[in-house]
Amino acid sequence: MGNDIYVKYTAFKQDELLKKIRMSISEKRFKHSLAVQKTAVLLAKRFDCNLEKASIAGLVHDYAKERSDEEMIRIIYENNLDETIIAFGNNIWHGVAGAILIKKELGIIDAKILQAVTVHTTGSSNMSLLDKIIYVADFIEPNRNFPGVSKARKLAKVNLDKVVKYEIKRTLLRLLENEAKIYPKTMDTYNKYVAGVNQLST
Ligand SMILES: [Fe+2]
Ligand SMILES: [Fe+2]
Repeated sequence: MGNDIYVKYTAFKQDELLKKIRMSISEKRFKHSLAVQKTAVLLAKRFDCNLEKASIAGLVHDYAKERSDEEMIRIIYENNLDETIIAFGNNIWHGVAGAILIKKELGIIDAKILQAVTVHTTGSSNMSLLDKIIYVADFIEPNRNFPGVSKARKLAKVNLDKVVKYEIKRTLLRLLENEAKIYPKTMDTYNKYVAGVNQLST
């Protein structure tokens, strides 16, 4: 995989793109983004997904994470995104609004990449292979350190769906424990991949 994948999928060369991302997020999050990129490529090799799309999606998935609430809310209104999302805060917004921003500012138009970034915070009831890879790479990249991460990494060596299941369950448990708001799409992901409910309203 050469450097030309950046030109193929974005409006920039590799060094220009990295600089743009680096200027949008903290040093720590930039490191995380590079680690998610690497992990996503490993998973794409393992589970036979498009390596280039996994690489780009992993790199840009948190591009919007440090934008102001004002900017995010404006993006939600201007793009007619689901307004109910506003009550859920940046943890949810930065996926949906992030897809808008990477299209506008980084020139990424590939639908699969945009979707993977859109759903990386919540999952969805209908995740593509690339969606799952970014969702999981975000969870298990080498800088992550939480109880259960080694189990997730072990599962990721053999079965991607099992990690998705493990991840959504753990995420929900943590939200419940903190009495945090739960975005309905997160429940949809749970119903599909943990509880095995097939018919879901979207
Ligand atoms: Fe994120
Ligand atoms: Fe992330």
